[in-house]
Amino acid sequence: MTDSQALTSIIIYGASGDLTRHKLLPALCTLFAQGKLPERWQVVGFARRPWDAESFRAEMRAGTAETLKDAFSDAVWERFAPHLFYVRGDLGSAADQAPLEALLSEAENGAGNRLYYLATAPEYYGPVAEALEAQHMQQETGGWRRIVVEKPFGHDQQSAAALDERLHRAFSEAQIFRIDHFLGKETVQNVLFFRFANAIFEPLWNRNYVDHVQITVAESVDVGTRGGYYDGAGVLRDMFQNHILQLLCLVTMEPPLQFSAEALRLEKTKILRALRPASMGNTVRAQYHGYTEAPGIAPGSSTPTYAALKLFIDNWRWQDVPFYLRSGKAMARKVSEIAVQFRRPPSLLFSLPQGKRLKPNVLALRIQPDEGIHLRFETKVPNSASDIQSVDMEFEYKSSFRDVSLPDAYERLLLDALLGDTSLFISDREIALSWRFIDAILKGWNAPGAPPLAGYAPGSWGPREADLLLEDDGRVWRIRPASTP
Ligand code: BG6
Repeated sequence: MTDSQALTSIIIYGASGDLTRHKLLPALCTLFAQGKLPERWQVVGFARRPWDAESFRAEMRAGTAETLKDAFSDAVWERFAPHLFYVRGDLGSAADQAPLEALLSEAENGAGNRLYYLATAPEYYGPVAEALEAQHMQQETGGWRRIVVEKPFGHDQQSAAALDERLHRAFSEAQIFRIDHFLGKETVQNVLFFRFANAIFEPLWNRNYVDHVQITVAESVDVGTRGGYYDGAGVLRDMFQNHILQLLCLVTMEPPLQFSAEALRLEKTKILRALRPASMGNTVRAQYHGYTEAPGIAPGSSTPTYAALKLFIDNWRWQDVPFYLRSGKAMARKVSEIAVQFRRPPSLLFSLPQGKRLKPNVLALRIQPDEGIHLRFETKVPNSASDIQSVDMEFEYKSSFRDVSLPDAYERLLLDALLGDTSLFISDREIALSWRFIDAILKGWNAPGAPPLAGYAPGSWGPREADLLLEDDGRVWRIRPASTP
């Protein structure tokens, strides 16, 4: 039997949760509608809820319709739903895997591939892997076995290593797919394409021409109902250890030898290894006013909901180029962007009007929303003797790709996991090195001399301290109040 004829099962642990309902099933339904799922496939939801296949389908239909909105099609759902099944059980219980194994092996009839997706709370990652091992369900008999692990992957370097050890007892590194959903975003993947499919930018992409780089991942939403998780995590663990450090890697890494998972991961690892430990004076932490009133937040909590860092990469390409990174909740608006600011021209030939300065060129890669790329450069104002104005050269996905809507990150990631391509997943080395960098900051924040926890108004662009981080260097955030990039 060929691989395409073998049954592929996607087993979702934590199938009653929000991720399954609002992300995984809508993504699978879209892939199905596009004909991208394997020839023979099924989804088996596994959770404690007393559901059966019928109620699972009804629940998933509601969630999928809610997410896909106008793109939801009854006709597609009617064809999709019969592929969905459900097994009730305790996540970490080896005995409860038995009925699942029975259902799977009967359907597979000796040839089947399995993707175990851990859409559970993190404390179940280890127990589920162990339960699978106890039932020998990780063994690649009759087809491949892969495990997808959601974030957060560990709480610090030590717990991440412990989790890795538990997973590695059952699964080899090639079988483990650690999710960072930012890597599934079309615009994030485009960072590498933009850099390495063009000849004109890469020669400037280094310390000789780049003055500094800013990465902003601002969110307008506040902690909402996620207080129970978030208060124990905070913004560094929630956004920096994974998404923001990955963006940093993509924008700074050397060209990989080839476009393979191994080569990509190797180059990202080199960046993470070259991160200079952040000095406390280059860190800002803050909490929005009113955070402690949200449900699930400890009274008097000092968990930061915002952080800004200035960091350096100690390698040949980036030595002494500052990277300013910031992220926060309850900010003025949702925007994720990487902005590369180039050095000023070496001499000023033109006599500008009083008080006017040449603005440096900026290349902004807009991750979301209004996805696109902007290049700011200087132009002579028509009909003036020597006045100069900044203008933008723009690429916008929505106007250049009119009939194409940007896929949800989970569509790409699920598809890659089914194809066995780990390029857009995080390796054990990357996890360990990212945590090493973040742990050192968290430790510094708990030691004497730590920067105090600043406050900021919800709906603002963060605390004044974060502006000073740049102003002290004679710079400003590209996205700031009254700026409309
Ligand atoms: C998640 C974080 O990983 O990413 C959330 O846990 C955050 O706190 C989310 O809101 C942001 O993702 P996106 O795709 O909405 O930018």
